[in-house]
Amino acid sequence: MTDTPILEISNLTRTYRKGGLFGGTSFNAVDNVTFTLPSTPQVFSIVGESGSGKTTVARMILRLVEPSEGSIRLLGRPLSGKAHDRIDDHEFRRLVQPIFQNPFEAFSAYLPVEAYLRRTALNLRIASNDAQAVEASDAALRSVGLSYERIAGKYIRQFSGGELQRISVARALIPKPKLIVADEPVSMVDASLRMSIVNLFRQIVEEQGVSFIYITHDLSTAYYLSDQVSIMNTGRVVESGVPTEILDNPQQAYTRELMAAIPTVGERWSELAEIDSQFGYADARHSKVSPPTINNDA
Ligand SMILES: Nc1ncnc2c1ncn2[C@@H]1O[C@H](COP(=O)(O)OP(=O)(O)OP(=O)(O)O)[C@@H](O)[C@H]1O
Ligand SMILES: [Mg+2]
Repeated sequence: MTDTPILEISNLTRTYRKGGLFGGTSFNAVDNVTFTLPSTPQVFSIVGESGSGKTTVARMILRLVEPSEGSIRLLGRPLSGKAHDRIDDHEFRRLVQPIFQNPFEAFSAYLPVEAYLRRTALNLRIASNDAQAVEASDAALRSVGLSYERIAGKYIRQFSGGELQRISVARALIPKPKLIVADEPVSMVDASLRMSIVNLFRQIVEEQGVSFIYITHDLSTAYYLSDQVSIMNTGRVVESGVPTEILDNPQQAYTRELMAAIPTVGERWSELAEIDSQFGYADARHSKVSPPTINNDA
């Protein structure tokens, strides 16, 4: 079935205990969250202040945290539950790949980074020998503007954060996943390189048919990059829809506060609206047209 949604999240809740082992209270880090990524590849952004539950949602999708309640279905199949219809670990790792915030933590300082790409190709049985692993790594690296030759023999300290994050993206692409979960993937990348990584995501969506969950504090990149946005506050989705509707006309006070509370966004908001009208920004979001550079230092 071609129109099976990539991801269906239904009434997802995760409860944690707050305070001491005795007498502590429990609270919902994620509270009854529901959203769907349709079969058409796209970017779904989750935006919210610190502690709103974004990473907890991501970790449940990545099967790193068990939901307390609710369900997650990937391509129509449950992530947890009875073994016979649940997606097994191997298949899951091919279908869903993470990109984390700090690319320096994604690789050890003691191994050349290309070793991680080869290892991914071998572990996920994309390659059955080293030559094939090099080939798969090179193909993935080329799709992010690098090559195996260019990175071979180098260690993390020999790369910038932006380059390393590109290499993390290449590593994630090796199994040709259906979904990439990227938790604050550009927040530690040098400001001048952020938009190039964001554009890379868009290119991957269009050219490789991969969907993204993009988690960020930065409303401007979410606005630019996404097809859908969900705003989270204290574990709940308080507003969701297409970015132009949500962010140009926020219905919730929290969303407006979020826009105002993030200093760089507050300042850039009128600038973005300006760019929007000048360059057909909203249209560019869905095409391969390069967007104007946004100065994140503002
Ligand atoms: N393992 C855990 N045990 C207890 N509480 C947790 C655990 N993980 C997260 N929390 C709490 O759940 C809430 C949501 O955390 P989460 O990391 O999902 O937020 P976030 O939106 O990703 O925040 P940030 O923007 O700072 O990354 C926070 O109050 C956090 O302290
Ligand atoms: Mg987080």
